[in-house]
Amino acid sequence: MTPKKSILITSEQIKKRVEELGEEISNMFRQEKISDVIVLWLAEGAIFFAADLIRHIECENLQIRSLKASSYGKELFSQGDPKITGDESGFEGKHVLLVDDIFDTGRTAEAICQRLLRIGAQSISTCFLLNKKVEKTTSITPDFIGFDIEDAYVFGYGLDAAEAMRNLPDIWKFEK
Ligand code: IMP
Repeated sequence: MTPKKSILITSEQIKKRVEELGEEISNMFRQEKISDVIVLWLAEGAIFFAADLIRHIECENLQIRSLKASSYGKELFSQGDPKITGDESGFEGKHVLLVDDIFDTGRTAEAICQRLLRIGAQSISTCFLLNKKVEKTTSITPDFIGFDIEDAYVFGYGLDAAEAMRNLPDIWKFEK
């Protein structure tokens, strides 16, 4: 039986919130006098969020980098420790803004932050479009969050359901 689905967050709501997040992040950089930043977005899920958000961030010298992180694979449940792949060079001494689609258990963010600290990043701030209400397995507290959502499987606007449906403009959820 196909699970029932419904729209959770519309593209208009996303657009408005992403603009606000851009402003909040720009203010933080201004306040902390940070003018040199690497925005590190995680493929594939953050593809649209990062592309939209970055264009609302004001920062004199902003570089864009990405790493690939996967914990769900083709399943709709976490497959344990996240796999992280990609070029990890060049983060030494840099201010990094980590941008991802969803803060679920927090394992992915924790793994990336640990690596960045090991590499010698000067500072790390984090921004997630969604924060899922589940028990977190990490001590990491996100700096910026777009929307707090219930514990449901969501897809669209870059998020996948078994690698499909990333192209939907709205964010959908499967009914439980
Ligand atoms: P975490 O490591 O448990 O925080 O999970 C983070 C990653 O799992 C996210 O970057 C997503 O790729 C994926 N993920 C978690 N929840 C969902 C969901 O509801 N839909 C699609 N992907 C999800």
